[in-house]
Amino acid sequence: MLKDLLERNAAWSTTRQSEDPGYFARLAGQQSPEFFWIGCSDSRVPANVVAGLDPGEVFVHRNVANVVHSTDMNLLSALEFAVEALKVREIIVCGHYGCGGVKAATEDLPHGLADHWLEPIRRLARSYSVDLGRERDLEAQRDRLAELNVAESVRRVCETPILQRAWLRRADIRVHGLIYGLKDGLLRNLDCSIGPGHFLAANSEMERAL
Ligand code: CO
Repeated sequence: MLKDLLERNAAWSTTRQSEDPGYFARLAGQQSPEFFWIGCSDSRVPANVVAGLDPGEVFVHRNVANVVHSTDMNLLSALEFAVEALKVREIIVCGHYGCGGVKAATEDLPHGLADHWLEPIRRLARSYSVDLGRERDLEAQRDRLAELNVAESVRRVCETPILQRAWLRRADIRVHGLIYGLKDGLLRNLDCSIGPGHFLAANSEMERAL
């Protein structure tokens, strides 16, 4: 109920202020998060909570199944703001096991608009069909696909003109891929991080010219 939600908010605000009287005044002044988080919209994977971060510490973009579409103005606007204005140093793409979006991408059922949104995951499933076929069951296949989707999203973030430009001007920004386990509450590093110097072919020419 909305009434309950507003009461919980009022209680939280009071507790916070009594613990740290300058807390809201400080945060209202400016945000300077270290991290930009691209995660799934799933209600069980809230960035601040699972990463143990306070308000002000992580700038967040979430969508169904943490897909990075190179034409998604919502994601690109948030990414550009994070890189150019907030000067974040760490970008995290975080997927999760048991992801409903990844599951939908593996089903032969119509899901309406979601089928368009999830097309990159369907494409990944086709590309890695042999690899995925080695998993013990459907659930394990979907979890492996969720990992592959994170790694693909990491690559796509790095290939945006936003990251390419930032690295050309020697910004020290790293993009990491993590996956969250709904069953144990743990984040795992997928070891697919990409850092400065990852240039697309055209930009490598520009880099040499610098
Ligand atoms: Co999900």
